[in-house]
Amino acid sequence: MPKPSFALDKYSAVTPEIADKVLYGGTDAAEPVKMIVSRGQLMLALELAHREFKGDTEPGKIVAKLAQNLHELRKSAGLAIWKELIPIAQNHAVRSYLLQDPFTKWSFEKPRGYSGDATLLDIYYQHDSAKTIIDEATELGRDIYHYTSNADSSVAGRERCDILTSYVDAAASENSDAEILSIACGHLREAEKSKTLHSGNMQRWVALDQDPESLATVQASNPDNAVQAIEGSVRGILGRKYKLGEFDLVYASGLYDYLTLPVGVKLMQRCWEMVKPGGKLLFANFSDEIKTDGYMETFMDWPLILRNAKDMEEIVNGSVDRNAIDLKVFYGANRNIVYAEVTKLA
Ligand SMILES: C[S@@+](CC[C@H](N)C(=O)[O-])C[C@H]1O[C@@H](n2cnc3c(N)ncnc32)[C@H](O)[C@@H]1O
Repeated sequence: MPKPSFALDKYSAVTPEIADKVLYGGTDAAEPVKMIVSRGQLMLALELAHREFKGDTEPGKIVAKLAQNLHELRKSAGLAIWKELIPIAQNHAVRSYLLQDPFTKWSFEKPRGYSGDATLLDIYYQHDSAKTIIDEATELGRDIYHYTSNADSSVAGRERCDILTSYVDAAASENSDAEILSIACGHLREAEKSKTLHSGNMQRWVALDQDPESLATVQASNPDNAVQAIEGSVRGILGRKYKLGEFDLVYASGLYDYLTLPVGVKLMQRCWEMVKPGGKLLFANFSDEIKTDGYMETFMDWPLILRNAKDMEEIVNGSVDRNAIDLKVFYGANRNIVYAEVTKLA
C-alpha cells in the first residue's frame, strides 16, 4: 500500500488491530473441524466463480452470487473462522478477474494509501470525474463494475449524498446565515447538489478532511461560494485543535464506519460543543444489514464497523444529555445505511 502524502491519524481506517478487536471480537482460535468445513465452502464458492468467468455466464451474475455466498459464509462460519478465510479468498486466482472492476481494484490497491478515499467514493457515486478510471477498465471490468456500483450498498451511498444535501438545504432554508460543518468531507459532492449553496443562502460551509488532495478538489470545485476547505483530522478535533466556532449543522458521513465506540463517543462530544442551540448533528454508518460485507472485506480489502439503530443510540447516549436533545434514528430506503439526527434543544 503506498504511503499517503500526509500523516494518517489512527482513526483513518479499520486497522488489523481494530478489525481483530472490534469486527472479529477478539475471537479465539477457530474450531478446527468447522474451519475445515468452512474453508471447503469458501473454495467451492471461489472455484465456481472462477469457472464461470472462464465460461459465458454474465459477470454481474457471477459476482452477485459470489458476494451472496461470502455474506452467508461470513455469517455461518463465525468471525474467528471468517478472519482466517479472508486472506485465502484474497489470494485465490479468481481475484485476477475481480480486480478488473475499477471499484474493486481501487479499493483493494488503495492508491491514496488508505481505505475509503474520496476517489473511491466518486467511482461508486458514478461521478463524472471517475469516468476515465472506468473507461480505462477492460470490458469485463466494466461489466463487473455495473454490478458493484449498483449493489445495494452503493445505491445507499448515493442516497446518503442526497440525504446530506437535504439536511444542508434545510438548515440553510431555516436560517439565511447558516453555518455548516462537514467532518471528513471527502470531495464534498453534496455541494454540487445543494440548491441553497448556489443561491447564496449560507454564511459558511466548512469542509474538513485529513487529505490535502481531496481538499484541493473541494477548493477547485467551489472557487467562489461559502465552502471553506480546512485540513484537519479526527485526532485534531478530539484535541480541540481547531477554533471553528459554532454551526447550525455538523455532520459526518463515511467516517463513523471506521471509528470504535469510545472514539465515536468522544468525537460526538467534541462535535456537540460546536452545535448551536436549536442546531443539529447528523452522522451516518453502514448498517449491519448490508449483504456486501463479505465481498468488501475480502476482494475490496475494505472492512467497516457496521452498526444498527441500537448502536447509533449507544453512541448518542454516551455522548450527550438525553434530556437536552431530540433524537431521530432512521435507515435509508434499502436499510444499508443508518443515520442519527440529534437536535440540540434551544
Ligand atoms: C468514505 S470518505 C467520505 C467522504 C464524504 N464525507 C462522503 O460521505 O462522501 C472518508 C473520508 O474521511 C476522511 N478521513 C478518514 N479518516 C479521517 C480522520 N481521522 N480525520 C479526518 N478525515 C478522515 C478521508 O480522508 C476521506 O476523505
